[in-house]
Amino acid sequence: MALLEWNDAYDLGIRHLDFEHRDLFECINALYEQCTTRCGPDDVEDCIGKLQMRLAAHFALEEQNMRDLKCPTYVVHKQVHDAFLDEIGEALADFSADTPEADFAALARRVRDWIVEHITTYDRALIDLDA
Ligand SMILES: [Fe+2]
Repeated sequence: MALLEWNDAYDLGIRHLDFEHRDLFECINALYEQCTTRCGPDDVEDCIGKLQMRLAAHFALEEQNMRDLKCPTYVVHKQVHDAFLDEIGEALADFSADTPEADFAALARRVRDWIVEHITTYDRALIDLDA
């Protein structure tokens, strides 16, 4: 079963951001599947690395949109993005061949919780700017 299911509450009505958010959901689900199907640490690390790159690219796009729209909460929103990328980077750096499987799955759940909370709060605030 997928870790994360899309639902209408996550739609911002901003097509390119919704598209990327859905893509991130797929990426997080792929990570969780790898964590829970006894893939080796190298595969999981690869998957987290991919997710990290996609998140960085997505945040860059979102931040460009915020600058274009002169978003008043840009600085805080960007800090939240940066802090999360740092967190993922640190998790990646801490992983090794001895990392227990449960830690990978816990990271996938942490990413799920973060993205759902982020889309429904910070990103949701972008709807008004785009109108
Ligand atoms: Fe965001």
